[in-house]
Amino acid sequence: MKIKHTYSPEETEFLGYELGLLLKDEYKVVILLDGDLGSGKTTFTKGIARGIGVTDIVNSPTYTILKKYHTKDYRKVLYHLDLYRLDHVGDDFDLEEYIDGQGMIVVEWPYKVSEFMPKDYLLVNIKKVSDTEREFILTCVGIPCKRAVQYI
Ligand SMILES: Nc1ncnc2c1ncn2[C@@H]1O[C@H](COP(=O)(O)OP(=O)(O)OP(=O)(O)O)[C@@H](O)[C@H]1O
Ligand SMILES: [Mg+2]
Repeated sequence: MKIKHTYSPEETEFLGYELGLLLKDEYKVVILLDGDLGSGKTTFTKGIARGIGVTDIVNSPTYTILKKYHTKDYRKVLYHLDLYRLDHVGDDFDLEEYIDGQGMIVVEWPYKVSEFMPKDYLLVNIKKVSDTEREFILTCVGIPCKRAVQYI
């Protein structure tokens, strides 16, 4: 487990960027972002995307549930999910229907879908400490993120 603090959106994006850099060579990583509205999940995701080499602009997928991005060299895929509006989908939601074998998968509001819990994942709890301060608690469950959490 690792605890980090940021004091501006730019710092949050940079923290995500560092995490992206540390994880960019992993075959598959699932990152679960848990935090209140406006805590910084999407801001953090923008940084992760940049860290793994996505050059397109990453925006909140709230109205589409899922957005898919490629790195500039097309070697890596980023899936950005926002499950906030999935209340009524119930247990039918199956991540595997949306996502194939590999890539970086970032999920906002992962607990909206009770069924959804991969075996290996990096859990990031984000807390609003003040208007501008955020606390990040990073917990790695499984193998692929151990090194990243150690070095970030
Ligand atoms: N240290 C900080 N880190 C991140 N965002 C911050 C910080 N301080 C202030 N903010 C503000 O908090 C908001 C974070 O918005 P963001 O869309 O990233 O949150 P979110 O968790 O994705 O929200 P939602 O649940 O609606 O998807 C922005 O308005 C940003 O300017
Ligand atoms: Mg968001």
